[in-house]
Amino acid sequence: MLFRQTARSAAALFGFLFCLAFAAQAQTASVKLPNVTILATGGTIAGTGATSTTTVGYTAATVGVQALIQAVPEMTKIANVSGEQVFQIASENMGNEHWLTLAKRVNTLLAQSNVDGIVITHGTDTLEETAYFLNLVVKSRKPVVLVGSMRPSTAMSADGPANLYNAVLLAGAPDAVGRGVLVVLNDQINGARDVTKTNTTSLDTFKTPELGMLGYIVGGKPFFYRASARKHTVETEFDVMNLSALPQVEIAYAHANVGPVAIEALVASGAKGLVHAGVGDGSLPAKVRPALSSARKKGVLIVRSSRVGQGIVARNGEANDDELDFVAGDNLSPQKARILLMLALTRTTNTRDIQRMFYTY
Ligand code: DGL
Repeated sequence: MLFRQTARSAAALFGFLFCLAFAAQAQTASVKLPNVTILATGGTIAGTGATSTTTVGYTAATVGVQALIQAVPEMTKIANVSGEQVFQIASENMGNEHWLTLAKRVNTLLAQSNVDGIVITHGTDTLEETAYFLNLVVKSRKPVVLVGSMRPSTAMSADGPANLYNAVLLAGAPDAVGRGVLVVLNDQINGARDVTKTNTTSLDTFKTPELGMLGYIVGGKPFFYRASARKHTVETEFDVMNLSALPQVEIAYAHANVGPVAIEALVASGAKGLVHAGVGDGSLPAKVRPALSSARKKGVLIVRSSRVGQGIVARNGEANDDELDFVAGDNLSPQKARILLMLALTRTTNTRDIQRMFYTY
């Protein structure tokens, strides 16, 4: 008697669980997956080393985009993924021409209704620069997510596959729409404008010092807590779609005992703009000031930035920018100030107008 009752209950339970599983399966099947395109450019995420313990001294930019996708089959459950190999380079070799090619491809793809988001796999050395450049020239609210890794694909506990999975997840997430270009590594979401690489080798290298990351990806879900206060993507005045080159803008780094030689050489090389990575609050050493002033008089736009890494370079603080006709670089790092000055020079050479741009983007 008892056995019959137990068997009947077990059958009923099995039947219920089967129906539950079928309903869940049906529901999953009915959920439309986002279409995400992966644009591969190289870097460590596409790198290979001699052994599984090789985490330095490997070769970046050797694994193709299809292999990167095949290494993460779980992605097929969260998005319809396609891949394009735009370049295959170590990102220390990223140049203005690469940026123009990439920006044009991104804008062309995002204008298509069958593309919901884009992931760009990239070396970590200049990832923050490419991200900021795209933050200023992508003309869509759809998510653009840059991702890299600190260990090559062949390494034990390689971080690339999980980073790529998270990037695809974010690129297809409705909550990521309209937030500007994003950077995802190590389960953390950072904004393109303020993120920077803070450690040469650690997995936890990308941070937004003082101002903070935008959110996390935990358990396959993005959690956002803040948004950038500066204009980006569809709100910017910059358009590179018809440009074949960008103005030459260089950076001069300050230090104790620095002289004017580097500045003079950069100006002589044809720079249209010069970012001075000053000490402290953008201070100008006495031997450097005349060289910068002379460059300005020759028509070179000068931005006072700082090597410090955090904080604002205040206009008319350590130098009289009004008198020198310089631009104060706000809190942008020298490498990002260079990007904004380059794009500014595609629009104007008016110092006041460029200063406005540094307070806007
Ligand atoms: N060569 C560096 C680059 O391509 C490797 C660093 C990395 O990608 O993590 O940026």
